[in-house]
Amino acid sequence: MEAKERVRELTEAINRHARSYHGLDAPTVTDEEYDGMFRELLELEERHPELVGPDSPSAKVGSAPSSGFAKVRHEVPMLSLQDVFDDRGLMAFMSRVGDALGLPGDDGVAYVVEQKIDGLSVTVEYEGGLFVRGATRGDGEVGEDVTANLRTVRDLPLRLSEGIEYLAVRCEAYMPKEGFAMANARAEAEGRPGFANPRNAAAGSLRQLDPNVTAGRDLRVLAYEIQGIRGADRPPTHHESLEALRGLGFPVIPGYAVRMGWDGVKGAVEAIRDLRDSLGHEIDGAVIKVDDMGHREALGRTSRYPKWAAAYKYPAETAKATVVGITLQVGRTGAVTPNAELSPILLAGSTVRRATLHNPEYIRAKDIRVGDVVTLRKAGDVIPEVVGVDLAMRTGAEAAFEMPEVCPECGSRLERDADGPIHRCVGEGCPARLSRRLAHFVSRDAMDIAGMGPAISGMLIDAGFIDSPDDIYLLRGRRGEMIGLPGLGERSVDAILGSVEGSRSAGLDRVLFAMGIRHVGAIASKAIAARFGSLEAAMGASAEELLDIGGIGEATVSSFMRGVADADIGGMMRRLASYGLGSAAPGSGARETAGPGDAVAAAVGGGRAAGKTFAFTGTLRSMTRDAARGMVEEAGGSVAERVGKATDYLVAGEGAGGKLAKAAEMGVNVLGEDGFLALLGLAGGNGGERPPAGADAPSGDLGPDGGDGAEGKYRQLTLG
Ligand code: IVH
Repeated sequence: MEAKERVRELTEAINRHARSYHGLDAPTVTDEEYDGMFRELLELEERHPELVGPDSPSAKVGSAPSSGFAKVRHEVPMLSLQDVFDDRGLMAFMSRVGDALGLPGDDGVAYVVEQKIDGLSVTVEYEGGLFVRGATRGDGEVGEDVTANLRTVRDLPLRLSEGIEYLAVRCEAYMPKEGFAMANARAEAEGRPGFANPRNAAAGSLRQLDPNVTAGRDLRVLAYEIQGIRGADRPPTHHESLEALRGLGFPVIPGYAVRMGWDGVKGAVEAIRDLRDSLGHEIDGAVIKVDDMGHREALGRTSRYPKWAAAYKYPAETAKATVVGITLQVGRTGAVTPNAELSPILLAGSTVRRATLHNPEYIRAKDIRVGDVVTLRKAGDVIPEVVGVDLAMRTGAEAAFEMPEVCPECGSRLERDADGPIHRCVGEGCPARLSRRLAHFVSRDAMDIAGMGPAISGMLIDAGFIDSPDDIYLLRGRRGEMIGLPGLGERSVDAILGSVEGSRSAGLDRVLFAMGIRHVGAIASKAIAARFGSLEAAMGASAEELLDIGGIGEATVSSFMRGVADADIGGMMRRLASYGLGSAAPGSGARETAGPGDAVAAAVGGGRAAGKTFAFTGTLRSMTRDAARGMVEEAGGSVAERVGKATDYLVAGEGAGGKLAKAAEMGVNVLGEDGFLALLGLAGGNGGERPPAGADAPSGDLGPDGGDGAEGKYRQLTLG
């Protein structure tokens, strides 16, 4: 087929799939197929730049970072909303509306009640059905042009199903809870501070100078208002506008209700509140809007907000707990993070036992002491945050925190970062750092080695078999010694060794990512791998050559250079190159073909999940998500991020999200945690508790899951 035709075909298919996934519900292709098409399109466009169409989903991905955002004057001002905080406020709003319209009765005016999505407002504009511009709200009159970044948002249609002359749509840009947890896990893996909540994460991702960074984040949009339209009639009611937007290909605010009268409106506001914890995204209230456009016009606006709408704000969920201790945790990059150990408290649907205190300066600024009663708030439903100390509860017996000068794990000196308040352990042989580096090295996005859970890794480190993560490639010479370690038999040792061997074919990008160099995450690793092709070549790259790649900034480049020069990391890279790793093409190995995990599944022999696809939602009691994923993969199954036609089972934990409704709709089998374990033949496990809230979700594959139930599950499974 001609390149031109293929580019057109791929562009249309990708735009259509993106639309059908978000706008019409059911995903029509798997993530892999989608990514495959995207990759093919990028390659074709690189070879034939003249074929890049105005609606190409790639349009701005890969372009150089811009130096700032241009200002855009909004054609129609982007107004705010009047807030109400309780039933009285809502009743007052409704009677103002009824009186102004001369329809004072209880059922004269129809309202639409919608979720108030906790993100940031953007206006997207289309000419002739093509996306031409997107801007943030700014001060309501003038915003910032974020067109390039919005183009990378997968569910924003770039071409509408109809070529209307002009259309401006107001949307909320937001990040789903899961995407937020992933972004923070990645930030941690790359040694960057995470985001406080999904709203900040969405804002930070959208206002990125480099669209490549935005493209790597799970940023989405939901449409809720037509701001302007030419060349077609504006629908006469709001609910018809929403349906028209859906028909054009927009993801539209889900589950809105059309109601009349006090009971109806109030019931809808309460129904949304009750959904709050189970949704896949954050909401901070409900929006109540007059449905009829004629009524809206008659009501008018103030300088700041329309008189036809109000936001009913829900209070943020908070709780009080006592700080029973402040502990320190040593991360992979040596960062030593203080955590508050709390008296267990139920907050927004889960038990919180721990909250991050970030760094000593944060503790000092809030004057948090051991023994204090503190107010906690769940930021983004996942990380509990200490809002403040209840000073009235102080007895004088509270103890102030002092950051130690040496690492709590190895006694080496701690050094404060020159560019921030983070303290790091400088000890090269710090066992805490080694176990975190190893956990990162074997993790799914890195070398993807199954069967190396925290218990086994810890044992191999303690036994002196592993001094540096790359030592796992020497393990095959110690097979005899490994068999006979507590709990390791011949079969499980061979399963681990098989998985290690399988990882030798992992692509260079994975090997680079596995080095755990600060700032060098999955995206930078892919870019470096694509440019240099081999570990040796990448190690020999100059700063100029690295900067020349485009899309990776100076901080990443200098961090990469420091990594190569570092005795530990550079040494590991040289040894890996000498073992022949890092010569496979980027993206190969692990996930695509028969991966290392398969070796383990085969060795375990059970393959109870062979060929089955699982998805997860909510928080699991006895294991981390990653441990669950490992268990599925070890049993021969695979895990998908989303519920789709190909999903065999949805495993639902506490606070299950929107996936649950989707599964019900699509007839996907739903399993509870016990059912899941039973299916894998692991029922009646050790019933281990999940790690403290706040330590689990956001830290992802690097989570401090040592010692939790997952470890026991890991061992059982590996032993078959
Ligand atoms: S309507 C003139 N609908 O809430 C129309 N806003 O507090 C005004 N928001 O800036 C906005 N969900 O960013 C509307 N369903 C929804 C919304 C929504 C979230 C945000 C929006 C706005 C802010 C006002």
